Amino acid sequence: MAPRSTVTDEPDTVVPLTASSETIRPAPGTSTSNWVYEGQFPGPELRVQEGDVLSVELTNDLQAETTIHWHGVPVPNPVDGVPNVTQDPVAPGETFTYTFRAEPAGTYFYHSHVGLQLDRGLLGPLIVEERDPHVEYDREYVVIVDDYLPGEPELPSDGAMGGSGGSGGVGGGGMMGDIRPPYGGLLLNGRLPENPQTFGVTEGERVRFRFVNAGSATVFGVRIAGHEMTVTHTDGRPVEPVSVDSFVFGAGERYDAVVEATNPGTWTVQADALDGNEPPARAVVEYESSDGGSPQRPSPATNRLQYRNLRSVSSLDGVSGEPDRTFDLTLSRGRSQSYTWTIDGQAYPDADPLQIRSGEHVRIRMINQSPVVHPMHLHGHFFQVGNAIKDTVIVPGHRGRVAIDFHADNPGRWLFHCHNLYHLDAGMARVVRYV
Ligand code: C2O
Ligand code: CU
Repeated sequence: MAPRSTVTDEPDTVVPLTASSETIRPAPGTSTSNWVYEGQFPGPELRVQEGDVLSVELTNDLQAETTIHWHGVPVPNPVDGVPNVTQDPVAPGETFTYTFRAEPAGTYFYHSHVGLQLDRGLLGPLIVEERDPHVEYDREYVVIVDDYLPGEPELPSDGAMGGSGGSGGVGGGGMMGDIRPPYGGLLLNGRLPENPQTFGVTEGERVRFRFVNAGSATVFGVRIAGHEMTVTHTDGRPVEPVSVDSFVFGAGERYDAVVEATNPGTWTVQADALDGNEPPARAVVEYESSDGGSPQRPSPATNRLQYRNLRSVSSLDGVSGEPDRTFDLTLSRGRSQSYTWTIDGQAYPDADPLQIRSGEHVRIRMINQSPVVHPMHLHGHFFQVGNAIKDTVIVPGHRGRVAIDFHADNPGRWLFHCHNLYHLDAGMARVVRYV
């Protein structure tokens, strides 16, 4: 991979992206005011070829400061989009240009990294296409699952909702705008369950689904009725294909799965909140030949993807053998009166950076001393976890332990944090700093 510190080449693709407040309609008769990119929710799909230089010109038409983060892409540090760590936030009325080489290929997403703005709708898919695909497929669909909090009260101008807790699901908040019952719910590609998108397929095709969990707090279980899914990528990185009838992913994780369209009919794609009882997010797979009958629901999962079965196709450079540096970190609720979430007892931003040196093999061992899961995400690097290469990983509750290994090959100041936005907002982050 070429050095990432600067990108001086002419961009291959220039995309304007304006953040503004708009009325969106997740279902007929339901509307709500959200903060979105280019007037759309989810934001426009950015799609480039691996190795292309992408330049995104952000215009901030919000009444609040904002930034964009390229979740999962190991971009140069100055364009990583973390306010007050890698850049000054972009003020209302201002613009900021993010330019980086889009590599490696994979399924990513982009989102605001200010406060809870991701939860308000500032997100969209970023697809970096392989020049030489690891899997063959005839057609693809991007599937963004999201939890939805339209009932948010008016937010302070920085888009933060300090102190509002909730450890999962879509609870919390009052009503806003003219949204009507159900007050929100789970979304698939920006649509409520009563307004599912249809994915058209032709019998015999291999269909690639790129699943993105853009939720703020929800762990989703995904199934497709009538079909096995062959999981081919996790967090954009290719894995040895595994066929399952469901997989589970936390906020910030992505899975790609190929489905063989060999069972004509009308079938539900379903994403259930693992600890909630909201109607599941859904879409419909419909064959060309279908008579449009009512979609069949998936049966209960019997063969769910197991972590230990994920094996990346290639190994990560620089992480074999014993690490040069190890951090042992406890994930827990803060002990203070205020609502905080901590990494080793410290709540960001009043937390010590994790200091590393360029070239090191770094290991972070985590133990979760809380009852809820934490989807932990590292900026600027992929990591090895078990036999898989990822950038976001669920640390299970009740003393769940996970160790990640990465190679310090992208100098800068990088956030390492829980991707549950409420936990992040309440302090569950550290800066990883090259010294
Ligand atoms: Cu989606 Cu700090 O990341
Ligand atoms: Cu968390």
